[in-house]
Amino acid sequence: MAAQASEPILIKFAHVVGDDTPKGKGALLFQKLVRERLAGAVEVEVYPNSTLVGDADEMQALLENKVQMLAPSLSKFTEYSPKLEVFDLPFLFDDEAAVSRFQKRETSRELLRSMAGRGIYGLAYWNNGLKQLSANQPLRDPTDAAGLAFRIQPSSVLEAQFAAVDAKAVRLPFADVSKAMQAGTVQGTEGPWSNIRGQNAGIKQSYVTETNHGVLNYMWVTNSEFWTSIPFAVRSELDNIVLEVTQTVNAEAASMNQREREQILANGSTTLVTLTPEQRQAWRAKMQPVWRSFEAQIGSDVLRAAMTVNRR
Ligand code: LMR
Repeated sequence: MAAQASEPILIKFAHVVGDDTPKGKGALLFQKLVRERLAGAVEVEVYPNSTLVGDADEMQALLENKVQMLAPSLSKFTEYSPKLEVFDLPFLFDDEAAVSRFQKRETSRELLRSMAGRGIYGLAYWNNGLKQLSANQPLRDPTDAAGLAFRIQPSSVLEAQFAAVDAKAVRLPFADVSKAMQAGTVQGTEGPWSNIRGQNAGIKQSYVTETNHGVLNYMWVTNSEFWTSIPFAVRSELDNIVLEVTQTVNAEAASMNQREREQILANGSTTLVTLTPEQRQAWRAKMQPVWRSFEAQIGSDVLRAAMTVNRR
């Protein structure tokens, strides 16, 4: 596309994790492709690691058009679209492939656009991966979690998930997790492998129980009004880039998590706890009743649609 005479449209893309994560790489790939294909028309600035805005203020900043793009985890939209809590339900999806299938279904497409009227326009789902439990002691049986405090993202489902194993849940922004773990205000957390290193930074000895009990994926969002104000030809090219970046992020997230898992375990300060099928089933049995508690809020139709994606 030919360079424009006027100032380029500026897109500030802010997020809370590092550059070397599925989301961080996605943001940088978006910047690169825009630079290659829309030079002079659009410019992208990427702000990782909560350097511009963080969990507490990023959504407000998007609504005020102070930033134009975010990719918060699906747990961070509860206030705007409670149905998205379906993604937080523990042990709902068998694997990341099932989540990907669900993200392609009509129900998920509708959820993507469910906040457009409130100023938040969903561009795409981005994968990160399945969550593991991490703590300063080994967790094998659900009773091992009793009495511990776990950091959670701002989601009532996640609160209920930890209450189900008699643990306490503490809502904290991602940027504060490592400090809270070091200070001992929380003794555990949950996250995909690609986030565990950041969360556990500075901890002498941590244990990761490979539960794969839930999912941490993202919605790539922009400000509705900003997006529709972009001239059609430019927006069409941006739409193409969005599609291409999303395909790359979603194709590479699983292998990034696998690599990160190997590196974390190789560095020696993290001990892997592998559950027997019976132990995993015990966690599942404790946590699964959470589904029913949130069925009314999420919607039976949405829950049913999500439950069908495992059957293949
Ligand atoms: C978290 O807060 O644990 C995650 O949402 C961080 C992220 O963006 O991956």
